Amino acid sequence: LVALETISFARGVPAPECLPVELLADCARAVLEVDGARTLSYGPAAGYAPLREWIAERHGVDSGRVLLTNGSLQGFVFLAGRLLEDGPPRVLVEGPTYDRPLKILAGLGADVVPLPMDDEGLDPDGLSAALAAGPAAFLYTIPTFQNPSGRTLSTERRRRLVQLTLEHSLRVLEDDPYGLVRFEGDPPPSLFELEGGDRVIYSSSFSKTIAPGLRVGYLVLPERLAADLEERAQSTYITPVLLSQAIVWEFVRRGQFEPNLQRICALLGARRDAMLTALERSLPPGASWSRPEGGYFLWLECSDGVDAARLLEQATEAGVTFVKGADFFPRGGGEHSARLAYSFVSPGEIEEGVARLGELLPAAAPV
Ligand SMILES: Cc1ncc(COP(=O)(O)O)c(C=O)c1O
Repeated sequence: LVALETISFARGVPAPECLPVELLADCARAVLEVDGARTLSYGPAAGYAPLREWIAERHGVDSGRVLLTNGSLQGFVFLAGRLLEDGPPRVLVEGPTYDRPLKILAGLGADVVPLPMDDEGLDPDGLSAALAAGPAAFLYTIPTFQNPSGRTLSTERRRRLVQLTLEHSLRVLEDDPYGLVRFEGDPPPSLFELEGGDRVIYSSSFSKTIAPGLRVGYLVLPERLAADLEERAQSTYITPVLLSQAIVWEFVRRGQFEPNLQRICALLGARRDAMLTALERSLPPGASWSRPEGGYFLWLECSDGVDAARLLEQATEAGVTFVKGADFFPRGGGEHSARLAYSFVSPGEIEEGVARLGELLPAAAPV
């Protein structure tokens, strides 16, 4: 009996060929040879100065407003802890949203309120209603190629969201690790750009543009908050991983950031195409899905009769996995949905995995 190889649409990580291993090896050696003593010691809690400055320049801010952290999720932990310290316990999120922040917020005792979304992203009317119902410590949003849905907030809605932010003095965390991983179309302005970076805090990472194992993420904050979070960083780990940050800087300094990004986008774009084609070919009527122009994920909505948790059990047996939609909601929802990641598997595996799903779906949906 030959064991069936499992095809994972669950893993939201880059395929191994996306990682620029050889280039990073060269950068690591150069950094250690040239700046070894500095990068192997303790240093500034806010991170490696040359990289901070480059990021600050890209976002048009003073480098004192950039906090480099060990992955952007660590920045989320610092920021959420700080904003919940003296704000109301209410935190607004998209429904669905990235599951790890939901767990972190639950751990911090936050009252997490999911807001409605559709194909154009977060619905501003839903946000307006939530703000009318009471104050919130902050809104957590992933406006571009959202995890888990792959959806992107339209420019018109971005403007409305910023308007509401100003009217209600709302704080917003714009989490944008996927924005540069764009296969086609023009990028919309970020909320940070539209608002000016006063109420909107921007978060990103080199996890999707270079490699997640480097653990280099960052926040762009108002100056006061940057200083507060720097203190939190210092009490947590003294110094972030300077060596990784110096390797990222060396990669950038050598002019490898843009060409590598283009290479990654070509590899991931081919996977996105393979998944869209396979879904079209193999899925029964009644199923629908998002069509992202970038990022790692798309969102599958099965017909109402399909219980995605049960489908996942059957799919796992049939050799294909995904993350069920319900995992991305704090209080129910997504029972008929699934997050499909096309980032990790090859185009051939995508075709085969979607075919396996397509065989299960008709039986999973009672007519
Ligand atoms: C929306 C979002 N934010 C943050 C992260 C975490 O990124 P990092 O590796 O920088 O901690 C991820 C990773 O999947 C993500 O999807």
